[in-house]
Amino acid sequence: MPYYRRVGDIPRKRHTLHRAGGAVVAEELVGTDGFGGASALLYHRHSPSAVVRIDALDEANQCWHANRPLRPHHLRTSSLVDATASPDAIRGRHPLLGNDDVRIGWVRATETSPLARDATGDQLVYLHEGAAVLESVFGALAVASGDYVVVPAGVTHRWVVTSPVELLVFEARGHVTIPPRYMNAAGQLVEGAPYSERDLRGPDAEPLLVDGDDVPVIVRTRAGVSVHVHATHPFDVIGWDGYVYPWALSIHDFEPIVGRIHQPPPVHQTFAGPNFVVCSFVPRPYDFDPDAVKVPYHHSNVDCDEVLFYSAGDFMSRAGSGIGVGSISLHPPGFVHGPQPGSRERSTDATRTEELAVMLDAFRPLALSDDALAISDPSYPYSWSR
Ligand SMILES: [Fe+2]
Repeated sequence: MPYYRRVGDIPRKRHTLHRAGGAVVAEELVGTDGFGGASALLYHRHSPSAVVRIDALDEANQCWHANRPLRPHHLRTSSLVDATASPDAIRGRHPLLGNDDVRIGWVRATETSPLARDATGDQLVYLHEGAAVLESVFGALAVASGDYVVVPAGVTHRWVVTSPVELLVFEARGHVTIPPRYMNAAGQLVEGAPYSERDLRGPDAEPLLVDGDDVPVIVRTRAGVSVHVHATHPFDVIGWDGYVYPWALSIHDFEPIVGRIHQPPPVHQTFAGPNFVVCSFVPRPYDFDPDAVKVPYHHSNVDCDEVLFYSAGDFMSRAGSGIGVGSISLHPPGFVHGPQPGSRERSTDATRTEELAVMLDAFRPLALSDDALAISDPSYPYSWSR
């Protein structure tokens, strides 16, 4: 969880009368883990509970398929063509991979999304391309290509697109946090962690005040999707403080850890989630021992489904496999994956890699959606044999 922030007009003491324009404001606690985890207090001009209508909303029909017979997959996101998809970052999502802990989706968006909140858990969004402003009850957070954005569970928000975006979306059933080993007992990021507090951005400006009546908000829960029509616009917060709020970290601010010989993926860990981790592979010098093998060794991490999204640069270890920018690979337990034949030899004289990639290791099996199977390269499982 990021550190304490305070924005706007809040009372000196928690849970005491506070007025704006002569009227008493409504205090809301956005809490995690009941009342025992990190939380924030927001001060609304109107009751955040005042809804005037509730409707069900059907999600697009998507069947899920176990990965059987067992195959590694290469999903080409550039092939995700759906003329009927909504052009916004909430309704236009294509779920691709998922289990009870996390759902991984992809979306191209050109328009501002409706208001939404996800009560199943935090959303971790990686901006592959474009620029946007994440507007929420906490205020505005400008984000751009390379940013990770954490949208906490239950936070009403919308994506305002300033330049068409392509987003990789991890919808967690639980909370996405800074890996605990990066934090000291005081709650500070330790020396040696690959990023620090200075790299974390939150909605620091005055909160957004928007007038409006009968404002629909898409609400996602474990039971499905609903629409709550709020009597007044949810963006009516005059101030807030606490430890829960949307925040951003640029992958370009992630400091790589390198060694004389190959370092394992945990040195690239960026986030921790419920039964998954997220790692960042960023441009860095290669291993510098004269005999170092610079491409990864073959491996089968039998406790993880390994998902890798290729965001930019070259991917020497898989050159020739068809993998490129915009690709997603799924390497499941039971299949030993490794570098493309010939890549070790090609890397001998290289001194650095320019790769930019995001990895999610899921500790429980991932199923594939109809959309995922439709864009899966049928020849990929045999790419090591060519
Ligand atoms: Fe791997």
